[in-house]
Amino acid sequence: MTQTTTAPTLPPFDQSPVPYTGPSKADVLAMRREYLTPALLTMYRDPIMIVEGKMQYLFDETGKRYLDGFAGIVSVSVGHCHPKVIDAVREQNERLQHTTTIYLHPNIALFAKKLAGTFPAGSNLDVVYFMNSGSEANDAAVLMARAFTGNYDMIALRNAYHGGSQGAMALTAHSTWKFNVPHSFGVHHAVLPDRYHGPHGYDDPDAGAKYAADVLSLVQHGTSGEIAGFICEPMQGVGGVVEMPPGYLQAVYAQVRKAGGLCIADEVQTGFGRTGDGFWGFENHGVVPDIVTMAKGIGNGAPLAACVTRSEIAQTLSARVHFNTFGGNPVSCAQGMATLDVLLDENVQAHAKQVGKRLLDGLRELQRMHALIGDIRGRGLMVGVELVTDRKTKQPATQQTADVLERTKDLGLLVGKGGYFGNVLRIKPPMCLTEADIDFMLSVLDVAIGEAK
Ligand SMILES: Cc1ncc(COP(=O)(O)O)c(C=O)c1O
Repeated sequence: MTQTTTAPTLPPFDQSPVPYTGPSKADVLAMRREYLTPALLTMYRDPIMIVEGKMQYLFDETGKRYLDGFAGIVSVSVGHCHPKVIDAVREQNERLQHTTTIYLHPNIALFAKKLAGTFPAGSNLDVVYFMNSGSEANDAAVLMARAFTGNYDMIALRNAYHGGSQGAMALTAHSTWKFNVPHSFGVHHAVLPDRYHGPHGYDDPDAGAKYAADVLSLVQHGTSGEIAGFICEPMQGVGGVVEMPPGYLQAVYAQVRKAGGLCIADEVQTGFGRTGDGFWGFENHGVVPDIVTMAKGIGNGAPLAACVTRSEIAQTLSARVHFNTFGGNPVSCAQGMATLDVLLDENVQAHAKQVGKRLLDGLRELQRMHALIGDIRGRGLMVGVELVTDRKTKQPATQQTADVLERTKDLGLLVGKGGYFGNVLRIKPPMCLTEADIDFMLSVLDVAIGEAK
């Protein structure tokens, strides 16, 4: 690959957006500032307004097309407005939108059965609790772990993001996401097994076991010795695409179980084939969790989440009433089920692996040309590019990352950023994108990173 000199052009696409006739971007921004919580974040110095989406592409109100490299934060798994998903939802919307689970409905049962079928044979991960967000799913997982074990202490990892509810915020370990209010009772954060910044690097085959020792130390010195559980993303998302080293989860799961705890995999970002190698991220690590939480990609954009576990653990929630009004809603389940059908029928995981390899190979080539690129991480279509001002000190290139994001947007590519210092480009597109899209993405990144000072 050579440094791109002309502006990259998006691959041709045979569908045009419907002309936009709604309020102007300036009016929407003004209403948002006046009537919506300031907690809402906008990306870009001049925020963009997205009014239509078709598969891997998004359109703004002027009709400008963008390649979506972030999928609404890893949520649109099979493509914006995928026709099969839209048909299923339209059909359900016209028939029945809502009743809650106090009455029987086929969708929730059929979807649970199908979802349970995605877990490894013999795992007994076959009892599903549908919810609306990843935070809720993690709250339920911790509740079940505590109720099942009779223990209280939870271990999570530093640099983790598990959500923003009171319970999930306790598990989250970025000061930027934690409010200074009481929420973290009984939650302890172990050292992040970060092979780029930490003491045990990629070249150390025992890095996993070495980092796992900190969890044992935490159990011994930070708890009563008996714990409720351990929660971890097989590959951290918001934290900047940090994958657990080989052997780490195996060693940690063994220690956690010895201390009486349950192992929870937060698959909110890593699930549904995104990592290319396993349908679930934990499958890349030779472990089987006791509880798996999921959201985002499960619904291809619908507010849908789930917590899946074994029946004896799920049983704990029948000790009291635990209720969720919209969890398992017929329309959300129709959307989730159609999404899962597409994922399985169209072998999306294999496609993610194939195009993800092209992306990772291309990024490694860019790394040879741009000193700003410190580290390339990820699998399949969950990829991170850490930008540093100096490869020796690994000083975060926070400002340059923001500049790269602006420039890629101007050139027609939307990607995300993450990491505590906001210096990791996060590339997690709808998994329907093509090799031509990957080549466009690489050309845009080449220009944008090349220009960043
Ligand atoms: C790994 C992980 N867990 C949980 C959550 C929380 O999900 P939600 O925003 O749906 O509550 C997120 C959201 O980004 C996440 O990335």
